[in-house]
Amino acid sequence: MARHLITSALPYINGIKHLGNMVGSMLPADVYSRYLRQRGHDVLYICATDEHGTPAELAAKEQGIPVDTFCAQAHDAQKAVYDGFALSFDYFGRSSSPENVEITQHFARKLHENGFIEERSIRQVYSPTDGRFLPDRYVEGTCPHCGYDKARGDQCENCTRVLDPTDLIDPRSAISGATDLEVRETKHLFLLQSKLQHEVEEWVARHERHWPHLASSIARKWLTEGLHDRAITRDLDWGVPVPADTWPELAAEGKVFYVWFDAPIEYIGATKEWSDQDPENRDWKSWWYDADDAVRYTEFMAKDNVPFHTVMFPATQLGVREPWKKVDYVKAFNWLTYYGGKFSTSQKRGVFTDQALDILPADYWRYFLIANAPESDDSSFTWEHFTATVNKDLADTLGNFVNRVLSFSKKRFGEEVPDGGTPGEPEAKLGEEIARLLAEYEEHMEALQFRKAAAALRALWSAGNSYLEEKAPWLEIKTDKDGAALTLRTAMNLIHLYAVVSEPFIPATAARMRAAFALPDDTASWVTPDEAKSLTAVPTGTPFTVPPVLFAKLTDEDLETYKERFGGTEG
Ligand code: 2FM
Ligand code: ZN
Repeated sequence: MARHLITSALPYINGIKHLGNMVGSMLPADVYSRYLRQRGHDVLYICATDEHGTPAELAAKEQGIPVDTFCAQAHDAQKAVYDGFALSFDYFGRSSSPENVEITQHFARKLHENGFIEERSIRQVYSPTDGRFLPDRYVEGTCPHCGYDKARGDQCENCTRVLDPTDLIDPRSAISGATDLEVRETKHLFLLQSKLQHEVEEWVARHERHWPHLASSIARKWLTEGLHDRAITRDLDWGVPVPADTWPELAAEGKVFYVWFDAPIEYIGATKEWSDQDPENRDWKSWWYDADDAVRYTEFMAKDNVPFHTVMFPATQLGVREPWKKVDYVKAFNWLTYYGGKFSTSQKRGVFTDQALDILPADYWRYFLIANAPESDDSSFTWEHFTATVNKDLADTLGNFVNRVLSFSKKRFGEEVPDGGTPGEPEAKLGEEIARLLAEYEEHMEALQFRKAAAALRALWSAGNSYLEEKAPWLEIKTDKDGAALTLRTAMNLIHLYAVVSEPFIPATAARMRAAFALPDDTASWVTPDEAKSLTAVPTGTPFTVPPVLFAKLTDEDLETYKERFGGTEG
């Protein structure tokens, strides 16, 4: 048994997330956490809302409520959706928590003590119209590298180059559109990342060969471009305050840390929040401090987050000169598109997680999204693909198998698993096939290859269908009642196996399949390929019930309704 620390990128507080956000971080992290728990590992899955920064301030202002009230409400709203998706966080925290304030300030003090923070005067964009300094991303203009005219002052989303707002041609305020921007002098703390370049390079070199290509290539690219010193404070009202004991002047001016400085620290902060709820039994530090050999740490995120997690946050952790646990494995995702185009909140294009749950239960989405996760490339969400996948894999291959087997057996043999005697050649062949596919499934899960794991799971479901078609108990029963009973008993064992191994993907359905059999709870724990082979976990005589249809078949009419409601199919 190993200790697994798992985090998924912290969703920004403002706005309910869309399906692309879900599949690019939280959902695969949940599938992996569930799998590891089932395998008997000690898992701590941590996430939180990323609450600081200008977007939250502006959203609160628009609603006319204080920013802390806004964040508390928005946190609860997101949490409710994640509960709906059955995300099994051990803790879902808030980056504005006192725990995160404390640890972020501690990190800053240590970085300062170790000579990695310096106070510098900078010239920053001030908007008299908006009455505030404009954070980099709230200055918009034309990218000097590629000419894209909606480039943001922090990064051009067209060519992905990192920018400084003063690089932009024809800059304007993204808040008001004002062009009367001024550049004013203001003091900020700088993290001297350049001094850490060498150490980070060494650290990446030691770890990247274990990372997927997407993560290591992005880390390499950033290191080749060189680590630049970075302002880690901002002139905002909402954020972790600069500690007055170390920087009295800046604290008096009300400076706060930059959201990207405190957000990754919240992985630790949220663990402490979790621990503070039950300090007798939970020890946050044992997961994070001096835990190099004791804990395996896996992070989940979309590709735009990779530089922060493979280079910048490790640089911060190294500079603190304390043994904070650093990431072992970075699972990064490409983009999920909506009909080949971007999911867009502002243009209301795509499917948001709350809307998804309004339409269908979480398991439909969980399975589809993971089976089509943008792992090696971007992948596209279309309603056609979604409905076809639900109908074929979930309704036909899995759901129909379960209902057909259980209803037929009930009709012909009553409400207990029938006997049927000793398994024969077809059962032995099936057992071999199941063992092989289960081993494949495990291998892909261990390697965090989610699409491949989904394919192996689907193949397990299909193997049951092939067996059933081959044995055709509805014909068999006419000439060989025992033979039909054996077939059904074997198929019921498959259902039980499916309940166990499908749990990471479709937990609610798995529970319903499992509950069909009156068995002690411990039979729900993992089954090894070798154990699975015999297909005997559900003994003859076990009482069972027939669950209602597991997955509804989606009709052409449903498809049209979805397309009409969500539109934007032109990409
Ligand atoms: O890109 C984002 O959605 C960020 N809120 C992710 C933060 S991850 C972590 F570092 F906190
Ligand atoms: Zn550009």
